[in-house]
Amino acid sequence: MRTPGVLLATLAVLALAAGAAATTGAVRARVAPSKALAGERITVSARVVPPGARCTATVAGPGATRARLPGKRATKGTVSWPWTLPANAESGLGTAAVTCAKAGSSEARFAVRALPAGDPVAGKTVFVLNCGGCHTLADAGTTGTSVDLDEKKPAYETAVDRVVNGKGLMPSFKTRLTPQQIADVATYVPTVAGK
Ligand code: HEC
Repeated sequence: MRTPGVLLATLAVLALAAGAAATTGAVRARVAPSKALAGERITVSARVVPPGARCTATVAGPGATRARLPGKRATKGTVSWPWTLPANAESGLGTAAVTCAKAGSSEARFAVRALPAGDPVAGKTVFVLNCGGCHTLADAGTTGTSVDLDEKKPAYETAVDRVVNGKGLMPSFKTRLTPQQIADVATYVPTVAGK
């Protein structure tokens, strides 16, 4: 009748040992924002114990999107990488996995919302109302002095990136425009710029 007691005691000791071993290193991965739009810049980060570990990360978006992020050291116990979702990313769940030497690995999920197909006719109105003050574009009849888009002839991917994330003096329109309006204006600009 004593055997079960001894067995339980042994299991408890083993469980404690395993717990102690597990707390010597830990990685907690995170993706911000946890809900992103196609074309949006996200940040993959992790808290790492012990600090100083060298870490790598992979991001797998919904569909075939996959990226290996460069190795980095978690100098102060944190490590982070920026990554921009492709403009044509599909809707669904993505996974970011962070692996750090001697500390272990951790995964974080994030949701992606695809951009709808853009309508260039609707995009022209979005452009005149939101973009023309800064940009010259002959087709829209705008003469903003920031960047001449007829000269630059940006591709759809560039237009999505700038409108979603902003850059330098250009603000992000992620919350000011709907995903449909973003797709419309990003489709419109390349169809007319420089023509
Ligand atoms: C407040 C002024 C401002 C507004 C408003 C603005 N932009 Fe911009 N835009 C800029 C500036 C400045 C840059 C250059 C950013 C850089 O590279 O530092 C830029 C860059 C761009 C580029 C990249 C050009 C290239 O090929 O390098 C595109 C495309 C663009 N804007 C489209 C738009 C669209 C579409 C809108 C409206 C939804 C818009 N912009 C609204 C100031 C503005």
